[in-house]
Amino acid sequence: MSFVKYSEFVQEGDVVIIFIGHDSMMPIKVESGAQTQTRYGAIRHSSDLIGQKFGSKVTCSKGGWVYVLHPTPELWTVNLPHRTQILYTTDIANITLMLDLKPGSIVCESGTGSGSLSHAILRTIAPSGHLHTVEFHAQRAEKAAQEFRDHKVAHMVTVRNQDVCKEGFGVVGIADAVFLDIPSPWEAITHAKRAFKRKGGRLCSFSPCIEQVQRTCEVLLDQGFQEIHTLEVLQRMHDVRSVTLPLPDFGSEEGGLDSAKMIFDPPSEEVPSSANAGYPAVICRTATPPREMAGHTGYLTFASKPRD
Ligand SMILES: C[S@@+](CC[C@H](N)C(=O)[O-])C[C@H]1O[C@@H](n2cnc3c(N)ncnc32)[C@H](O)[C@@H]1O
Repeated sequence: MSFVKYSEFVQEGDVVIIFIGHDSMMPIKVESGAQTQTRYGAIRHSSDLIGQKFGSKVTCSKGGWVYVLHPTPELWTVNLPHRTQILYTTDIANITLMLDLKPGSIVCESGTGSGSLSHAILRTIAPSGHLHTVEFHAQRAEKAAQEFRDHKVAHMVTVRNQDVCKEGFGVVGIADAVFLDIPSPWEAITHAKRAFKRKGGRLCSFSPCIEQVQRTCEVLLDQGFQEIHTLEVLQRMHDVRSVTLPLPDFGSEEGGLDSAKMIFDPPSEEVPSSANAGYPAVICRTATPPREMAGHTGYLTFASKPRD
């Protein structure tokens, strides 16, 4: 198993995602002889996991079942151990596209944090790309490096434990893209410029506060970056649910209730008028936007480095 290449069967040492329900998953490292407890009972790694196909349904010791899923960056983002705030799929999707990442890209990133974005970058630039990720918190850097080894992507990533604002990315003249998720990104822009390859390159900086964005944009302009723009990505997940709709009354015999009802038939069901304050209505299955949605995460500032 690797986060950048699909395998068919679970092997000792793999990281798998146990899908318990649509709102409940957990990552586990497969070790022969080990057991993992779930609310449906124990999963015995040797007999229940090793040798099983990814996607299999596994029966736990109390009789309930779970699915064993192949890890992906998307699943890792919602299952990883949080050591920091992380980036989620909505922002990540925009970042990978707008940084023009593709197989073979060389990318610089700081900070590594919990490695949520790093895994998505690695899958996008595999098999021949490379990620140089800089994290100044020693334990976070070590933990991320250990995860990259466990996830069989270590050959594609170099983790450096240093301050990007003081020491830069540790590479010069090779990056196709630079990504910043640190409190003072404006202090890392000159280092980013040095890391870029000679011909062009794309930069993105993620900041929760608009004051950080302003300072970053000023330095980007100062340093000759072009096409600078900032955006915020908000996601609306629609639910499928039953709603009660009042039937319109158009007033005349031909165009009245009966023809209005035909619009909804056959998938709708008539509601007894007593259930709707005496007015005729139908129940429809329909997609509805959320009443509440996840709000602001941060601003994404993109820029292009001019060709030398
Ligand atoms: C919000 S987290 C990054 C989360 C990451 N993007 C993810 O998706 O998991 C910010 C990280 O940047 C690190 N950091 C902050 N300033 C830094 C600097 N000057 N140099 C290197 N790392 C830095 C912090 O230690 C922290 O781990």
